[in-house]
Amino acid sequence: MCGIVARIGESDEAVDELLAGLDNLEYRGYDSAGIAVQRDCGVDVRKRAGGIDTLRNALAAAPSGGAVGIGHTRWSTHGPPTDANAHPHTDCLDDVAVVHNGIIENYQRLRQELSRAGHVFESDTDTEVIPHLIESALADGAAPAAAFRAAVDRIDGSYAVAAVIGGRKAVYAARNDSPLVVGAGDSTQYLASDVPAFLEFTDRVAYLEDGDVVRVTPSGFTVTDADGERVRRATETVDWDPKDTGKGGYDHYMLKEINEQPTALGRSVSGRTDSAGSTVDLDGFPAGEFEGVDRVHLVAMGTSYHAAMYTEALLARRGVPARAFMSSEYASSPPPAEDGTLVIAISQSGETADTIAAVRAARAERTLVVTNVVGSSLTRECDDALLVRAGPEIGVAATKSFSSQVATLSLLSERIRRDVVGTPSPDAEAFLSALTRLPDQVRQVVESPAAEEIADAFTDSEAYFFIGRGPGHAVALEGALKFKEITYEHAEGFTAAELKHGPLALVTEDTPVFAVFNGGSDDTETLGNVKEIRARGGPVIAVASGDTPDLEGIADHVLSVPSTHPELVGVLANVQLQLVAYHAARRRGRSIDKPRNLAKSVTV
Ligand code: F6R
Repeated sequence: MCGIVARIGESDEAVDELLAGLDNLEYRGYDSAGIAVQRDCGVDVRKRAGGIDTLRNALAAAPSGGAVGIGHTRWSTHGPPTDANAHPHTDCLDDVAVVHNGIIENYQRLRQELSRAGHVFESDTDTEVIPHLIESALADGAAPAAAFRAAVDRIDGSYAVAAVIGGRKAVYAARNDSPLVVGAGDSTQYLASDVPAFLEFTDRVAYLEDGDVVRVTPSGFTVTDADGERVRRATETVDWDPKDTGKGGYDHYMLKEINEQPTALGRSVSGRTDSAGSTVDLDGFPAGEFEGVDRVHLVAMGTSYHAAMYTEALLARRGVPARAFMSSEYASSPPPAEDGTLVIAISQSGETADTIAAVRAARAERTLVVTNVVGSSLTRECDDALLVRAGPEIGVAATKSFSSQVATLSLLSERIRRDVVGTPSPDAEAFLSALTRLPDQVRQVVESPAAEEIADAFTDSEAYFFIGRGPGHAVALEGALKFKEITYEHAEGFTAAELKHGPLALVTEDTPVFAVFNGGSDDTETLGNVKEIRARGGPVIAVASGDTPDLEGIADHVLSVPSTHPELVGVLANVQLQLVAYHAARRRGRSIDKPRNLAKSVTV
């Protein structure tokens, strides 16, 4: 939901570095983009509706330069994507420029007040009040840093905000409920919504806290907290490789990230169990850590919610009462607090506003986040954090993060079972050793051409359905989500048994149904459901391992995956469905990495 970046240096390279940063943040929003560079007198703002390339072309036609600047890529919340609504926004004198990610809740009242005082507004955005508030404070005689803080003190809501002021070689920034990190270089500093924005320039990062206000100059940065007290925010070195944030020769980030799953899964599992399946060694979660847990609430949105559903099934099979909730629902109607409840938030980005709200609603409980992003907001909101170690995920459609979430949560489920029940789950060794074989098996799936052939065989269908049971149900919903979000076709997932209670009415020869089999005892029922679909003329594509018998002559097509533990077949099946969605979207010429109307990090 919008990405912001700032570059504060001595050399005249701000424009190029801001554009490079925006390229790496475009996944956060891509309906308009802009930059502002600071001048001895005033600020030079360039902004355009459209993607970063539209802005880049405009700058090629009329270049700008400077050493200190801010940039923004937008996902609209207030007002349509137009040049006027694009950030940065300025004051009346064009002396202050501001970029913002988040929502200013009291902007209407502030706008009325500022308008009455003679300020003229040019956009529909909530953000535009900020440069005018800074302008007012400057006019009242405040120094720039004080004027910036005075403006921030007036706004309510969520924000990561950065400002440049004419004549000042500095960027002023603040965060509250929206991510903002400092990239610390030697004589050049950076600020951004996310680390990939400046990773090619520095790997030293300081994570700001809610309420922090920061002044950044070429030589360093100073932070004051919500009370205005000077505080130190330590820098740490991130171990992401800048190459990981590029496309690495693939046509799309999504395809690259699908192909990265063997490595990502290897990292998720490595050192946490062994090929004999005898250990569960989660850093920071020693044996006995979860004694006293009576039930687990899993909160998440979208793909992460599907990982939560998958985990619900894993925990239930291990005798641990668990329930997956959409974070938004949990936040608006949290279940009554009961002793012994562990709340696990699952979030790739660690920044999803609904999931942060759910964790806050569950504040009385012990909370733990399973996330991909070190230092993200949820790692600070929750009592504990467990990293999935998937590496940076740029494509808007989540792929490798799902596999790594399920692998990490598989280990966590086994840890919780041992602490709660007192013994390993009955087939723990088989399950954990299967987990260590997953990376190689995923490699076999991504190397197979079968998914592309299926995508080609069903290009003009009316709708696409996905069914499964238990973990396979979570995968069916995830398969449908992936398909709809990047192909823009109607796709829907159901539990296999649910069809005959209504959705079967939709099934015709024009509605292919992908049936996910777990390779276990519940396959017989799913086979029965498949026969019901075939009897109504619906084509069936089974996604199954060799452990599912009798598919021959029942399914129209089989997307095979290697045999593994029945609780992990879903991970492999999901990779097949990711590939089907990818190739189907590619055939339709869709914007795969940046599907319409969506943004990767939903921070509002
Ligand atoms: C779908 C997708 C989204 C996210 C959801 C939660 O491909 O990426 O549904 O899964 O917005 O995001 P995180 O996991 O960052 O909390």
